[in-house]
Amino acid sequence: MNWAIIATWRMALEGVSAASELLKSGGSASDAVETAVKMVEDYPLYKSVGYGGLPNENCEVELDAAFMDGDTFSIGAVGGIKDFKNPVSIARKLSLERFNIFLVGNGAEEYAHKNGFERKNMLTDRAKRIYEKRIEEIKNKNLSPYDGHDTVGIVCLDINKHMAVATSTSGLFMKKRGRVGDSPIPGSGFYVDSLIGGAAATGLGEDIMKGCLSYEAVRLMENDIHPQDVAEKVIYEFSSKLIKKRGKAGAMSIVCLNNKGEWGVGTNVEFSFIFANEKIEPKVYLAYPKGSSTIYTEATKEWLDSYLKRISAPLD
Ligand code: GLY
Repeated sequence: MNWAIIATWRMALEGVSAASELLKSGGSASDAVETAVKMVEDYPLYKSVGYGGLPNENCEVELDAAFMDGDTFSIGAVGGIKDFKNPVSIARKLSLERFNIFLVGNGAEEYAHKNGFERKNMLTDRAKRIYEKRIEEIKNKNLSPYDGHDTVGIVCLDINKHMAVATSTSGLFMKKRGRVGDSPIPGSGFYVDSLIGGAAATGLGEDIMKGCLSYEAVRLMENDIHPQDVAEKVIYEFSSKLIKKRGKAGAMSIVCLNNKGEWGVGTNVEFSFIFANEKIEPKVYLAYPKGSSTIYTEATKEWLDSYLKRISAPLD
């Protein structure tokens, strides 16, 4: 039987590799996405998710995460949660509740505490230094404070045809306290139906949520449109709509996977993603927009090496 997993950004590589081992031995899609996202949340050099994520304008790391089960439509989500190690696991636990499935701020923290989730100061010295440097740059160069909003979003199909999706992010760097992006919002940052397929988005949450892109992608896959055509249609049609209505469209990318294991990606910026299935080992791909298509190639060794160098480069 087929299994498949697709994830946004290079940062998901190690997590997808661990999840693939689980899937090979018959593990569930729900466990696979949680395992993979937790690994991204735990790695201190990924600066847009979990521990090491970049802070808000008050230098506090506020995290958003979600989990959805495609068999039952159970959804759990947290927004703006501080000082807990794995927001995705808190989201998964919330998905088992009948009521109060999406908690924010203090309420999410109280729930996590009462349910025994591990507390952790999620601000690393490196993230704090990046924040301090940004404050100087904003003052000296009159720059826009906002930057960086890469979400890890993972969609998975297991050998029992069960599908699940999970997302996690520290959101927009320098965001206002309490700002929540698209990543924990059902239908915007993620959606999955095991009878159809799933999608996860990354990019500027303020724009992604205007188009409910992940729900739109699943709705289109229901009409038996190939996930690659779906991903391109969703991104380019919505980018054009935003440009017509508002004069501009932010960065937006989406990964889609249907319940046959077919997949696709769409993006309006350069974007890296990971894919694996029973025949293909986890690999990093680079995607680019070209007209109203998205083209992608396997990342070269040079690209992969320079990525590792860049994320671990010393800060002055
Ligand atoms: N897409 C992540 C965010 O805007 O917070």
